[in-house]
Amino acid sequence: MNSATQPNISPTISDYRSVTQIAPGMATSDGAGVRMTRLLGTDQLQRLDPFLLLDMFHSDQPQDYIAGFPDHPHRGFETVTYMLAGRVRHEDNKGHVGVIEPGGVQWMTAGRGIVHAEMPEQDQGLMWGFQLWLNLPAARKMTEPRYQEFDPSEIPIEQRPDGTTVRVIAGETHWGTRGPIQPGETEALYWDVAIAPKQTFTEPLPPTHNGCLVVYDGQVTVHGDTSTPAQRVQSGELAVLGSGQQLQVRAGSEAGKFLLIAGQPLNEPVAQMGPFVMNTQAELMQAYRDYQAGRF
Ligand code: CO
Repeated sequence: MNSATQPNISPTISDYRSVTQIAPGMATSDGAGVRMTRLLGTDQLQRLDPFLLLDMFHSDQPQDYIAGFPDHPHRGFETVTYMLAGRVRHEDNKGHVGVIEPGGVQWMTAGRGIVHAEMPEQDQGLMWGFQLWLNLPAARKMTEPRYQEFDPSEIPIEQRPDGTTVRVIAGETHWGTRGPIQPGETEALYWDVAIAPKQTFTEPLPPTHNGCLVVYDGQVTVHGDTSTPAQRVQSGELAVLGSGQQLQVRAGSEAGKFLLIAGQPLNEPVAQMGPFVMNTQAELMQAYRDYQAGRF
């Protein structure tokens, strides 16, 4: 635990980020038949530059997750897997093996190419987690693959005096808690926030970042601005944040838990085909040929 002392927020900052869109997600199935909710990467919400996709899996029924994600490739982006409950074993074609524990994170830079399997490390019980796809800038799409993996004990928890907690995976809060992930050019933030009942969470965010909240327990209300009313966001919904300098989120009579994800947009063309995300069709075809020829 990291007991922080309250910093000053300038009273002149009143430029709140309101909610511009709510995505309830779409039930889908991926891998060898894993049931999940796709919150980003749907017809309704295709992308939120630099983020390409966000899936939530949440089930205590083994038939929903037991088939897992057997060997499959990735090129040109990063996958971020964060678990709330249950354990996932991963193994790639370079001999890298590990287990992601509840509260732990794996931030995988696929770069020029990786072939891996992501499988449940359990045959019963609750499996609850998220996988985010974060794009790489053109200049780093063919970088060497890299892993950043942290156990739950290595992720700092900021404890605020009102009972709110912030687990900081990537980025730094304005109270000074810094996550262990080095997020690269997109300067991505990835926080797991639990607002205590009836409390308010206020945090400046880099004004040029795109961002969203994903509520996974309870509900919260996001401050409005001069043209947008305050917006309630329920568990299971993703709320896209508009522009502004700070975020203010309130919990009701119960705690509100959500992921806060934000990053600097790349503003580059995106060419995507399944697990390959490049800038042009020619690069996609090359990725497909390289994978078929065993060059990952
Ligand atoms: Co994968």
